[in-house]
Amino acid sequence: MKGIILAGGNGTRLKPLTKATSKQLLPIYDKPLIFYPLSTLMELGIRDIAIIVKSSEKEKFFLLLGDGKRFGINITYLIQDNPNGLAEAFIIGEEFIGKSNVTLILGDNIFYGEALKQSLSSKFSEGANILCYKVNDPERYGVAKISGSKVVEIVEKPKEFVSDYAVTGIYVYDNSVIAKSKSLLPSARGELEITDLNNLYIEEGNLRGIFLDSEMIWMDTGTFNSLHDASSLIKALQSRTGHLIGSPELVSYKNNWIKKNELSEALNLEITYDASVLSSLD
Ligand code: DAU
Repeated sequence: MKGIILAGGNGTRLKPLTKATSKQLLPIYDKPLIFYPLSTLMELGIRDIAIIVKSSEKEKFFLLLGDGKRFGINITYLIQDNPNGLAEAFIIGEEFIGKSNVTLILGDNIFYGEALKQSLSSKFSEGANILCYKVNDPERYGVAKISGSKVVEIVEKPKEFVSDYAVTGIYVYDNSVIAKSKSLLPSARGELEITDLNNLYIEEGNLRGIFLDSEMIWMDTGTFNSLHDASSLIKALQSRTGHLIGSPELVSYKNNWIKKNELSEALNLEITYDASVLSSLD
């Protein structure tokens, strides 16, 4: 399984915060936003990860994450200069994906909770797995139309009520995702839509919708309010539980990809986390 993080786009809804930098580099409490989706892929055991960025931003992402060695992973940087849609990730990433399966995560999505790992870590062989989450503002998302316990169609940003289940920004696909993405036509808003891609898998009878419950936290940080809420929540959860959330160094250590001395080195030298959180590592 390979991983892709989509960290392009213009961050239009967050201007002026995103005038001089990428949305995915903005802070969520004590870490840059991209640390969270990166940690999520790593929690799923994925070590070969491509990050898709705008060419003007590549240098900054590299400064932050490098080639991934200090997290025990390999990071490849791929370029998307125009936001032509989420499904373009698989065309840009064709060579990187090769013959593997691939998990895509959006660079502005934060997941917290054990349920994600439980539902996605099981052996994946073919088709598509998507995660659905009950929200009170479904019109902001791709929304799953459900019959029984099956997803029968996905509607992107529906104007009329479809269901309360938003499709979250993490998707697991088999290798046919490359050919399927190439067959897509741009939507009315000029994008290769992930929703059209998912509907192709539904037509084939090959899409599995996994429903997350409210013990799991999912946040899309695309607006000022959600960005602010995410920071407050991470701060509250970290100080209440004493656990670092969204730390690629810590995930790497837990996965046995780096040793304890490498972890302390990474945490002490490069990041000034809250002292109470650090003490919880012993
Ligand atoms: O967050 C989940 C939602 O993400 C899904 O429910 C929707 O079905 C899906 O279309 C998407 O909706 P958004 O309107 O939130 O997508 P947005 O255009 O904000 O892009 C999501 C992230 O991907 C954002 O961090 C920018 C990045 N991006 C976006 C596009 C269109 C790229 O890197 N390249 C792109 O071409």
